[in-house]
Amino acid sequence: MSGESRPAEERGSLATDGKVTGYSRMQVTLHWMVVVLVAFQFLAHDGIEDTWRAFVRGEEAPIGRATLTAMHWATGILVLLLALLRICLRLGRGAPSPPADEPRLLQMAAEAVHGSIYVLLLLLPVTGAVAWFLGVRAAADVHALLTNLLLAAIVLHVAGALFQHFVRRSQVLMRMFRPQRP
Ligand code: HEM
Ligand code: HEM
Repeated sequence: MSGESRPAEERGSLATDGKVTGYSRMQVTLHWMVVVLVAFQFLAHDGIEDTWRAFVRGEEAPIGRATLTAMHWATGILVLLLALLRICLRLGRGAPSPPADEPRLLQMAAEAVHGSIYVLLLLLPVTGAVAWFLGVRAAADVHALLTNLLLAAIVLHVAGALFQHFVRRSQVLMRMFRPQRP
């Protein structure tokens, strides 16, 4: 079979209209790396909270919390760098279109949730850093508020992914597991 007559997804990473038909290996890897790092941030924030509370009260930093505290801010900065890289890839390479038969309202909901998650992945480390490195208390309050928004967005996002797979029976969930061949 000649290269021209094969389906677009077999020929390469771009469909005939110039749009990608799947996520690249790099995009898939970064997605799941960020999932693990964000999960860590939600499961292991006690150290930095205790240290921050001591700072606000003008007390000595609590003993034995230094490692967890450093891991929180370092992981958060890593999330910021990886989110920036993902956004660059998203703008440069693009993302696959939603299934052709997907109602416009669902497409818009998915776009809104993805957009909100990207914005929150940038704002969370920035507010955290302003609180932590500059000692701005209001930034810590905003940071804590934003963690709840991110959690809500993730719940909607995961519900959407499972809805696509089990109810609409689309390929949307699987394309975040199976990268498009280069
Ligand atoms: C995507 C990245 C991040 C996530 C998901 C995240 C998540 C969290 C969570 C869940 C808490 C506990 C909030 C609460 O219930 O009170 C927290 C607290 C905190 N985080 Fe982060 N964080 C991130 C990045 C950072 C960074 C980069 C820094 C500093 C450079 C930082 C500094 C802090 C501080 C100082 C607190 C204590 C604030 C308080 O208790 O009011 N975070 N973070
Ligand atoms: C910390 C948790 C998560 C975050 C921050 C996150 C973030 C994101 C973002 C920003 C996108 C948009 C990618 C782009 O087009 O540039 C995305 C896509 C996607 N995510 Fe997640 N995600 C998380 C967890 C999950 C989980 C647990 C699942 C599976 C149950 C999942 C499945 C997907 C799928 C299937 C897509 C592709 C959607 C599409 O092509 O329309 N995500 N995720």
